[in-house]
Amino acid sequence: METVIREPKRSAWGRSGRKEEKERGEVKPQKLKEIKIGKIFRLSTQIGEFDRVLGPSTVLGQAGLVPGSVVLLAGDPGVGKSTLLLQVALKLGGLYISGEESPEQIKMRSLRLGETINDNLLLLSETNVENILATIKEQKPNLVIVDSIQTLWTEDLSGTPGSIGQVRECALKLLNLVKSFKIPCFLIGHVTKEGAVAGPMVLAHLVDTVLYLEGERYQSLRLLRAYKNRFGPTDEVGVFTMEAKGMEEVENPSQIFLGEKGTTKEKVGAVTICPLQGTRPILCEIQALVISTKVPIPRRIFAGLDFARCQLLLAILQKNHNLPLYLSDVFLNVVGGLKIFEPAADLGISLAIASSFKNKAISQELAVFGEVGLLGELRPVPQQEKRIKEAQRLGFRKIITPQSHKNLGEVFREIFYEKKN
Ligand code: TYD
Ligand code: MG
Repeated sequence: METVIREPKRSAWGRSGRKEEKERGEVKPQKLKEIKIGKIFRLSTQIGEFDRVLGPSTVLGQAGLVPGSVVLLAGDPGVGKSTLLLQVALKLGGLYISGEESPEQIKMRSLRLGETINDNLLLLSETNVENILATIKEQKPNLVIVDSIQTLWTEDLSGTPGSIGQVRECALKLLNLVKSFKIPCFLIGHVTKEGAVAGPMVLAHLVDTVLYLEGERYQSLRLLRAYKNRFGPTDEVGVFTMEAKGMEEVENPSQIFLGEKGTTKEKVGAVTICPLQGTRPILCEIQALVISTKVPIPRRIFAGLDFARCQLLLAILQKNHNLPLYLSDVFLNVVGGLKIFEPAADLGISLAIASSFKNKAISQELAVFGEVGLLGELRPVPQQEKRIKEAQRLGFRKIITPQSHKNLGEVFREIFYEKKN
C-alpha cells in the first residue's frame, strides 16, 4: 500500500497562530505593512563554504541554518555526504541518525576526521521513523541529521524503504516534527545520475532547501550547490576537496579551476575567464578543441556550458569572422567541473574556439570576460570591477573586458595578429 488514509485535519505545518480549534471565520489576513520581522537567528555550520551556500550572505554574517528548516543533501553514493554532515555534527552536536552505518563505524570515521567530538553529539542507529520521532521528542536536539532518507520506513505503509511512498511519508513526518520544535534538520538522499527524478527528488517541493554535492569519484574536488533555497541564494558554490581527513574547504577556489600553470606561457584553445559564482568571481579555464570532420552533422559537445549559447557563438564566429565551423567538430570544456551559464563567458568561449580553429596560441597571462552580441559587439556584464580585481590578484597581466574593447574583431586582431610583446 503506497498511500496513507488519514482523518482529514488541518495541515500540521507548525505555523504559529493556526490553532486547530480556530473556526473558519477567525482566520484573518495581516497588513503587510504592519508585519514586524524579528532578527532571524541562524545556526552556523562553522564551515565557511557550507554557510556560503546556505546563505543568506557570509559577507553580512549570520549565514547558516534556519531553525525548523529542512535541508535535503543529495548526491551520488560515495561523494562525501555522510562525511560532510558528520563534520558538521562533530562541531555542533545534535542527533545523528544513521540507517546505513553502525555507531562503531561512525565512531571510527569521527576519529579518522580528527576533530574534537562535541559533548552533545548523540548517535542513533535506527530506520523506523516512529522510533526516530519519539527520540527527537525526548532529546530535543539542536540539530537532526538523517543518513539517509531512503533507509527509513513507517509502519503506516507496507512499501519497502526507499520506495517513493515511504520516502515521502517519512520525510513529511520528520518535517512536521522538526518544524514544530524549530530544530534544523538535514536529510541525506542518494541520487544516481540516471535516477535523479525518482527517489529523494520527490521531496524537492516539500523541503526548504535542496543542496547537491557533486564531484567525480576519482578526483578530490567537491562542489556544493543549492538547487532550491527558501532562505538564501541558489547561485553560490561551496568548494571543497576530499582529503584523508575529510572534506576540506578550498580557500582560493580560482587556483583550482585554472589549468596547469607555469609549464607554458601560451596555449592553443585555452582561455582564462572570470565568471561570477554567486557573489564571488572564480577564475577558470575554458578549453576548446576544434577539428575538421567528415560527418554530415558535426559534433558539438559542450561540457559545463549552455548549449544554445555556444551554438549562437559558433554562428557569430561563422558569420562575422569567416570561420567555416560547419566543417568541424567542436568540443568545449570548463576545467575542474564548474558550470557556467553566464553570458560573461561568451568572449572566452569565442576566443578559445577561434584559437583552436586557427591553431594560434593565447597567452596564459590573459584573462577575459564579456557578453558577445549577435553582431559580435562586446556588451558589459555585472560586477566588472570585482572580476578585474580577482584576475589582478591572481597575477593576470592582461585583462580584456567590454570596457577595453568594442567587439570580437578588435580582440581577435590584437590577440592573433598583432605583434606580441
Ligand atoms: P561518504 O561520506 O561515505 O559518502 P556518501 O555518504 O556520500 O555516500 O564518503 C565515501 C568516500 O569518501 C569513501 O570512498 C572514502 C572517502 N573518504 C575520504 O576520502 N576521506 C575521509 O576522511 C572519509 C571519511 C571518507
Ligand atoms: Mg553515506
